[in-house]
Amino acid sequence: MHHISPPYPLPQPFEHNELERLRAQHLAVKLHIGGLLPPSASIQSILEHAKDAGRKLRVLELGSGSGVWAKELSTELGEAVEVVGIDKALSPSGDSPANCSFVQHDINHGLPFANDYFDIVHDSFTIWAVEEFHILVDDIRRVLRPGGIFISIDVVLEVLLEEGKEARGIAPGSVRFLEMLKAGALASGVTLNRFTGMSTLVRDYLALDDFLWSPPEVLNEPIPCSPWSSDPKMKEIGSFWFKNASALPLAFKEGVLRSGISEEEYSEASDAWLRELSDVENIHLMHPFACVISSKRSHQLASPLP
Ligand SMILES: C[S@@+](CC[C@H](N)C(=O)[O-])C[C@H]1O[C@@H](n2cnc3c(N)ncnc32)[C@H](O)[C@@H]1O
Repeated sequence: MHHISPPYPLPQPFEHNELERLRAQHLAVKLHIGGLLPPSASIQSILEHAKDAGRKLRVLELGSGSGVWAKELSTELGEAVEVVGIDKALSPSGDSPANCSFVQHDINHGLPFANDYFDIVHDSFTIWAVEEFHILVDDIRRVLRPGGIFISIDVVLEVLLEEGKEARGIAPGSVRFLEMLKAGALASGVTLNRFTGMSTLVRDYLALDDFLWSPPEVLNEPIPCSPWSSDPKMKEIGSFWFKNASALPLAFKEGVLRSGISEEEYSEASDAWLRELSDVENIHLMHPFACVISSKRSHQLASPLP
């Protein structure tokens, strides 16, 4: 397995198993938030604004991975949009719509785009892996047009149960397994608070300065990890997420073993995680989920004092 240099602890997004895992995660999130873009009035208004002005909406996807989101958005919105995906890994193979392109670049080195260029910058499950997330968020602001929107989506790799039941008592294997993933991320150089709460960090950073960013809107319904729900939509989301969750033991294995946990311990914890995920009659696992949305205020940053 080829790994992107630390701090990224997962396999390359185009490796077969990782590609399948990311695809399942994408389908779960799309259903969970009700489309490729979240149902936010500010996004609707920017779409309409670009349409009225007769210009293409420019969208940047950070960490575009398999390219599935970028390709789908460019197909869904057609002529009205131009989508660029950026990723450190090789660009996706196969055909892309004419209005969709990919750039191979390490976003730790800044975004290689002009000021005030994009209408939307979209991040799903990527910012946790960068070295200095606030430097990246400042650069996202630079490449956004005034009024342009930043969307950041992530889960917390912890388990919740319904009605606030205590997870450690009911799903001890899952709690143990996710603790091992954190150890793996730490051993790969990702700090724990980023791994366990990136959306909160992004939200708080955006909220710090309401001169620069509008107050962040947060959609935060927990996402089901397996198809336990009697509600058909929740059950379908759970089925997609289950495919993703079942692939985590392999995806994180190298990182976790690097942290000093033995192969045997990891294999036991992985089996317990898979067992508890599959016990849909008795164990209703969910992850905290957040989609953070904020727009760039029109003001310019003050020039440095002479
Ligand atoms: C967990 S995947 C998420 C992929 C995609 N956004 C999705 O939701 O399916 C994170 C992606 O970020 C990319 N990535 C990680 N560190 C990066 C960096 N420093 N610069 C650019 N891309 C990076 C990885 O290659 C991977 O494709």
